[in-house]
Formats: sequence, C-alpha cells, structure tokens
Amino acid sequence: MPKPPVPVEIVENMKGIKHKIVVLSGKGGVGKTTVATNLAVSFASRGKKAGIVDVDIYGPNVPKLLGLNGQRPTVEGEFIKPITGPQDVKVMSMGFLLRKDDDAVAWRGPMVASAITQFLANVRWGELDVLVVDLPPGTGDEILSILQSIPDIDGVVIVSTPQEVAVLDARRAIQLVQKMGVPVLGIVENMSEFVCPKCGESYKIFGEGAAKKASEEYGIEHLGTLPFDPRVITLSDEGSPFVIIEPESKASQAFSALVDKLANKIMID
Ligand SMILES: Nc1ncnc2c1ncn2[C@@H]1O[C@H](COP(=O)(O)OP(=O)(O)O)[C@@H](O)[C@H]1O
Ligand SMILES: [Mg+2]
Repeated sequence: MPKPPVPVEIVENMKGIKHKIVVLSGKGGVGKTTVATNLAVSFASRGKKAGIVDVDIYGPNVPKLLGLNGQRPTVEGEFIKPITGPQDVKVMSMGFLLRKDDDAVAWRGPMVASAITQFLANVRWGELDVLVVDLPPGTGDEILSILQSIPDIDGVVIVSTPQEVAVLDARRAIQLVQKMGVPVLGIVENMSEFVCPKCGESYKIFGEGAAKKASEEYGIEHLGTLPFDPRVITLSDEGSPFVIIEPESKASQAFSALVDKLANKIMID
C-alpha cells in the first residue's frame, strides 16, 4: 500500500517532535487511552518533554483521564496552544473544543478529518521528545488516513485484552499497520489478570495466551502485561494518572517495565 505524502503544513509543524508513538487497538474499551495517557505522563516524569494528541474525535477521553475537563485552549492567529497537563504534558483533544461531551456525535467524516489535520498542523507542539497519539477504535479507512497524516511515526503500540475477540481485532490492527510499512513497536496485554485484594489469588479473567500467540505469529514484541486493577478505574475517573499517584502498585510497576522497553526500542534514553 503506497503511503501518500504527508501535507507539508503538518511536516513543518511537527518537525520539533523527536519521536511519535501511536497507540492503537482495533477494539474499543481495552485500555488504549489509559495506556496512551500514562505513557505520556511516564515519559514526562522521566524528564522528557512529552505531549499527547487525542485524535478520537467521537470519544475524546484524554482530558478526563488527565484531569483537564473544561479547559479551553487559546488561539493565537491560526495556531492553537495545547493545554498543559500533569508533569507538563502538552495535550490537545477534541474534548477541549466541544461544548458538551457528546457534541461530536453529529460530526461527519470530512469535518473529523479536518479537525485531525488541524491538531497536527495548527497546534503549537514546539520542541518535544515524544508525542503520543491516542487513536479511536477500529481498523477502517479512518484509522488508515490518520496514520497517513502523521510524518515519521516511530511505531505503533497495540493494546489488547487477552480475550479472543480483542486479540482478533488487534490482529487486524497489526496487519493494517504492517501493510502500511509503519513499524509495530509491540503489543501490550491489558487486564491480563486480577489479583484478589482479599486472598491474593490471581485470576486470568479474560483468559490467557492469545496476545502472546499473536505477537509470535506477526513477529512483534510482547511489551508486557498490565493487571486489572480497580484503582486504575477510580484514578482515571478522578483524572489522576495511576503511574504518578500510585507508583508502587503492581500496575504501575508493570507499566514502568513496559515504558523501559519502549524507551529502549525508540532510543529515548
Ligand atoms: N488495567 C486496568 N485495570 C482496570 N481498569 C482498566 C485497566 N485499563 C483500563 N481500564 C478501564 O477500562 C475502561 C476503558 O479504558 P480506556 O482506556 O478508556 O479504553 P479505550 O481507550 O481502549 O476505549 C476505563 O474505565 C478504564 O479505566
Ligand atoms: Mg479511548
């Protein structure tokens, strides 16, 4: 599949960004936004200049997860200033521009495409070590055109839960990305187990093995597993990234190991 050239305004506007990581899943609700936001915050807490762009126009959850609901970006001429979030992460999301949370429902394809182009071409990202891109769910044309609009993607992180249907969608996502010639950095297996807080026993609530098998089949790295942790939900709802609030938790430790691998892979020291 030949990749059409990225519009010059986007290339120009994003040239100060050293690394770009795209988070993709295929299926919704598997933890893409959770992974994307905590990734950006983790890089930032390691001293990197990090940003996150939420290109999920219909379900922009990044502001909520970072405790930024209700913020409004300022506009300078034809440029938009990103919002500064936890750990100084630069954030842009449709969520900052909608009047009500569900405003985007009425949006149609061309409007969505031009909003995404604006996020890439008209948001003042400035100098960043890493920009994380949170994609909407799916593996269709929309995802394809978003991937084609971002210059020099370091690679895609695939998020899946261990259950067969999620892995099936993850496989489609992997195939799409590989067909486009964009590197897949690896797969993150989210909600891999639930450790009972009372008895300490581990339950593989969504099964096991499928993500590992898919990673072997496509020759991509299994970046790690993230346990199901009810605190992740509570903290997300409060807008507090779990990696900074509870760095000692099993989920945060697992996440940190995963960030190590990723940083190594794209050579962010
Ligand atoms: N490891 C986890 N443990 C517990 N809940 C999680 C975990 N990962 C994600 N969640 C929860 O699952 C829901 C969906 O996650 P989200 O990141 O919004 O998924 P997506 O972006 O793929 O739709 C959210 O309520 C989130 O808090
Ligand atoms: Mg999401």
